[in-house]
Amino acid sequence: MTKRVTIWALVLLLSASAFLLDACRKTDKSPVPAITSMTLEVPPGFPPPENIFKDNPITREGFELGRRLFYDGQLSKDGKFPCASCHQQFAAFSTFDHALSHGVGNQFTIRNAQGLFNLAWHREMHWDGGINHLEVQPLAPLTAPNEMGETVEGVIAKLNADSRYREMFRAAFGDETINSQRMLRALSQFMGMMVSAGSKYDQVKQGRAVFTLAEQSGYGVFQAKCASCHAEPLFTDFSFRNTGLPLNTSLKDMGRMRITGKREDSLKFKVPTLRNIALTAPYGHDGRFFSIGAVVDHYRFSVIDGPTTDPLVRKRIGMSSNEKADLLQFLQTLTDNAFVNDKRFGQPVE
Ligand code: HEC
Ligand code: HEC
Repeated sequence: MTKRVTIWALVLLLSASAFLLDACRKTDKSPVPAITSMTLEVPPGFPPPENIFKDNPITREGFELGRRLFYDGQLSKDGKFPCASCHQQFAAFSTFDHALSHGVGNQFTIRNAQGLFNLAWHREMHWDGGINHLEVQPLAPLTAPNEMGETVEGVIAKLNADSRYREMFRAAFGDETINSQRMLRALSQFMGMMVSAGSKYDQVKQGRAVFTLAEQSGYGVFQAKCASCHAEPLFTDFSFRNTGLPLNTSLKDMGRMRITGKREDSLKFKVPTLRNIALTAPYGHDGRFFSIGAVVDHYRFSVIDGPTTDPLVRKRIGMSSNEKADLLQFLQTLTDNAFVNDKRFGQPVE
């Protein structure tokens, strides 16, 4: 309740200041359209999200601006690599079928692109947790030479030259000023609103569907052998762990250690969510696994017991072929078809 009141107070304040600003500007006398507030719906059973919208109240206008930016090639150097080129909705916003994604000049990234959803619950992002706020995340792909290869100034100049954007920034933030903070806030509003909690698993939890016998038995296997890291309901505990994968000698990715510089973090990667897992192949931080079954077989047969290998997997995870088959059935129930077909998150129509 109080949250809603503050948001409204903010909206009023914003529109009031926008009105005053507008009154002073001689060039543009048309009234600023009303700003419509939106709220992040917390699905039943989910913990409270991170407070990422504290200084960035979500509005319909900000969200729509973020959506346009997400799908706009102008954010990349050669115009061909919008965020959406590597984060495709039908693949739950991961890169479909690619171990590594490619960006400007056909250069490859060193990591597999995660799906994008339920980001408001993530305190740290990227496989090594190198990003600690959704609002600053887009700076990484924007400026990476092998992703979008642009500069912030370059993007801002392009957006400023586009009257449509000037209008959208005004609608979202009260005046036509286009700057990096506003661009990042709009992107953060769009991405932060992407919530995926409409899978069969969720319906079962809410008593609106039932698992098949195989799914139910697979759920048991999951809870016994996987849930300590891939914790429900988000299917990750957000920790960094080494699951005993051999180092890819060409990429030499040391994971979390790249950020903390600590040897004990060597080869640790963020526990990925298993929601929508059937849609986000290939798997692992470098996309080395082409099927979920292959990941499961890694845990069963090929975990390397190194100095930082997690105690939970060090002895490998034993299961019969039947248990594996049931587990795979269960993991299929984590697919949220409504989310990947949700038009609110799709490419804006002109
Ligand atoms: C060239 C491909 C490419 C483009 C373009 C791209 N990304 Fe990504 N994205 C990736 C890869 C690869 C990762 C994983 C990076 C890592 O973990 O180090 C990633 C990770 C992310 C994450 C973190 C997800 C998580 O679970 O930690 C977010 C958020 C994200 N991207 C948003 C964006 C936005 C917003 C844009 C546009 C401004 C964008 N990406 C453009 C490839 C791309
Ligand atoms: C010790 C914690 C831990 C346990 C236990 C664990 N996982 Fe993982 N899982 C991880 C981490 C960390 C990764 C990322 C590995 C990497 O790429 O370096 C991962 C990756 C995966 C992936 C790839 C996801 C993607 O988006 O790329 C799948 C699938 C997966 N695990 C399934 C399972 C299943 C099924 C079980 C139970 C049999 C299980 N995990 C047990 C920590 C764990």
